[in-house]
Amino acid sequence: MKAVGYHQPLPIDQAEALLDLTLPEPTPGPRDLLVRVHAVSVNPVDTKIRRRKAPPEGEAVVLGWDAVGIVEAVGSQVSGFATGDRVYYAGAIDRPGSNSELHLVDERIAASAPASLNDAEAAALPLTSITAWELLFDRLRVPKGGHGGAGQTLLVIGGAGGVGSILIQLARQLTQLRVVATASRPETRQWCLELGAHAVIDHHQPLLAQLQGEGIGEVDMVASLTNTFEHYEQIIEALRPQGQIAVIDDMDVLDAMKLKTKSISLHWELMFTRSLFQTEDMGEQGKLLAEVARLVDAGRIRSTVNEQFGAINAANLRRAHALLESGKARGKIVLEGFE
Ligand SMILES: NC(=O)c1ccc[n+]([C@@H]2O[C@H](COP(=O)([O-])OP(=O)(O)OC[C@H]3O[C@@H](n4cnc5c(N)ncnc54)[C@H](OP(=O)(O)O)[C@@H]3O)[C@@H](O)[C@H]2O)c1
Repeated sequence: MKAVGYHQPLPIDQAEALLDLTLPEPTPGPRDLLVRVHAVSVNPVDTKIRRRKAPPEGEAVVLGWDAVGIVEAVGSQVSGFATGDRVYYAGAIDRPGSNSELHLVDERIAASAPASLNDAEAAALPLTSITAWELLFDRLRVPKGGHGGAGQTLLVIGGAGGVGSILIQLARQLTQLRVVATASRPETRQWCLELGAHAVIDHHQPLLAQLQGEGIGEVDMVASLTNTFEHYEQIIEALRPQGQIAVIDDMDVLDAMKLKTKSISLHWELMFTRSLFQTEDMGEQGKLLAEVARLVDAGRIRSTVNEQFGAINAANLRRAHALLESGKARGKIVLEGFE
């Protein structure tokens, strides 16, 4: 089967950073779906693994987590899906990636793709939706529906990125939170407003002063989605005493002592935790993806796709990685079909 991968970690401007490969077809384990991949999206984690992880001599790493495709075969214990089903999912960090014509995924972390979206539109959603959902409802524990979050403000740092683009929508659709996003360019600012942010401030300017300028002042919770280390002091300043911060990005060190004076709670979200540790509740990811599909099909959530980079091949994936590494992505980049 066709796949895109690499043999050694290289900067993205080198031709061998991602290569077109031919690999053996995988065989499903007991809970696996064998999926013929139609479309994928690219996430910053793809670029991080590509830069860091070297495969054993003579082997290739295949990246890619988000996927949409058709189930071609199922493992002996699969109960929720059948051949021919159209599924979407974000996969597992410790398994080969979705940049391959055929791909394996555990049925518990997959769901039927939104019927109202085409493959490219649907591929934009799974990984970031799982992240945003778990951050909001499992980590910050904002009650879903009803008056959940009423009277409280959520600040989303990096609002126009992949995760922010779906987090803003989930917070607006499923809670009563006031949502303030950060964006630094006219097009990302406008994007956040279109997705439902009540207000947008600039992450390159002092946060609390801008929040005060908006008549908001200190916020109750911060979803710090990117460059947390750069904004950390300002986030603490912008949080009210006993507020909460949820973090998803990477940094060498984060000083939790700085949170003591205000009794701020720190939450980590990693959307791969459930599949990596095969937690008893890993099926919650399949359920939340099914709920996101229902919200999409009801017209309440829109796809976050912004750029379509063509077929799934090494040249197009190198372009997608380069854009993500620039820090200037808006929404999601998707690729569709193997030529
Ligand atoms: N833990 C998890 O489960 C998990 C899941 C998904 C992603 N992540 C990580 O979370 C991070 C964000 O992912 P993503 O997909 O949302 O990224 P992304 O799509 O690449 O984010 C791009 C956005 O970041 C904003 N940005 C750039 N520099 C910034 C800065 N200095 N401060 C604040 N915002 C800045 C940009 O906004 P402007 O153009 O307006 O400046 C841009 O719209 C990545 O590190 C990713 O690996 C973790």
